[in-house]
Amino acid sequence: MESLTVTLNNGLKMPKVGLGTWKSSPEAVREAVKSAIGAGYRHIDTASVYGNEKEIGNALKEVLNEGKVKREELFITTKLAQSQMDPEALRRNFEASYTNLQLDYIDLYLIHNPIGLKASVNDAVATGKYAPDGVDYVDTWKILETFVDEGRVKSIGVSNFNDKQIERILKVAKYKPVVNQIELNPYFTRTKLVDRCQANGIVIIAYSSFGSLDRPWAKEGDANLLKDPTVLSLAEKHNKSSAQVLLRFAIDRGCLVIPKSVTPKRIQDNIEVFDFKLTADDINTLMSLNRNFTMGLVLWKTCKDHPHSPFNEELQL
Ligand SMILES: NC(=O)c1ccc[n+]([C@@H]2O[C@H](COP(=O)([O-])OP(=O)(O)OC[C@H]3O[C@@H](n4cnc5c(N)ncnc54)[C@H](OP(=O)(O)O)[C@@H]3O)[C@@H](O)[C@H]2O)c1
Repeated sequence: MESLTVTLNNGLKMPKVGLGTWKSSPEAVREAVKSAIGAGYRHIDTASVYGNEKEIGNALKEVLNEGKVKREELFITTKLAQSQMDPEALRRNFEASYTNLQLDYIDLYLIHNPIGLKASVNDAVATGKYAPDGVDYVDTWKILETFVDEGRVKSIGVSNFNDKQIERILKVAKYKPVVNQIELNPYFTRTKLVDRCQANGIVIIAYSSFGSLDRPWAKEGDANLLKDPTVLSLAEKHNKSSAQVLLRFAIDRGCLVIPKSVTPKRIQDNIEVFDFKLTADDINTLMSLNRNFTMGLVLWKTCKDHPHSPFNEELQL
């Protein structure tokens, strides 16, 4: 039987499917987390900038108090805001996440983005302007390592990094990044980055597996991965939904997934992906849909002159 977890390069196990929570309102996220845990999820992915850590912490407290799950069975990820990379701000940002989640330790703490900003990322997206914070993410990494030494974080990793940026961290790391959390789906397949990370023992967590259709800047007529004819035909072939095929696409490439939903039926469906596998031909067919489409293009374009932009080479910005 297929394992529901992967082993990270520090020996800890991480679930293959987790619940994404970006855009899950504080009101909705509590029920979403409880529903997910009821459906068998053990990994919850959040971030300081999602504005819902406290409600997630409340939901976790509730399920733990009810004895529905034990702390050691859960795997909780959060992320350092990219406007808080300056050492003092970083410590404040970490303390806030730690307090909000109300846990003795955080399982995984990520640098959300190599692009450090002076103001919030939402400002950059809304105004098309940004100011770099002058922080080198390698220095940020050294501070994250101290959280591991203090026992308040079990594992540390990165998100939205390219392979060269990871190489810079590996040169100085006492603890290797265990994961790189990146946008990954059949419209953005990123073979080189996935291969390089996996060769370095760094697990890829795929985000926006469905193309993030609820992203705030989505427009009428944007491509809909869940309705792509090729995805639909594979769904019919396997007698599964297109969402399940998209999740399996990442899992069968050796990656983890964190589908976001606040809808109980979808939350349930999104973890029912262990009763089928895609064939090598299916994966090649899905890989051929690649169009280097990234739902985050607004941000990447806005910040393309930032010294730590991860995308200029990959997207030819
Ligand atoms: N590190 C980063 O920079 C970064 C960036 C983006 C995302 N992430 C993480 O990755 C998670 C997932 O990515 P995402 O939120 O961008 O988008 P996503 O998971 O690709 O898509 C979420 C959208 O799909 C819908 N959906 C969920 N399950 C479905 C199903 N079975 N059938 C049809 N529709 C379904 C959701 O609707 P409902 O909620 O209404 O059900 C929501 O509108 C985030 O929530 C976040 O935790 C990280």
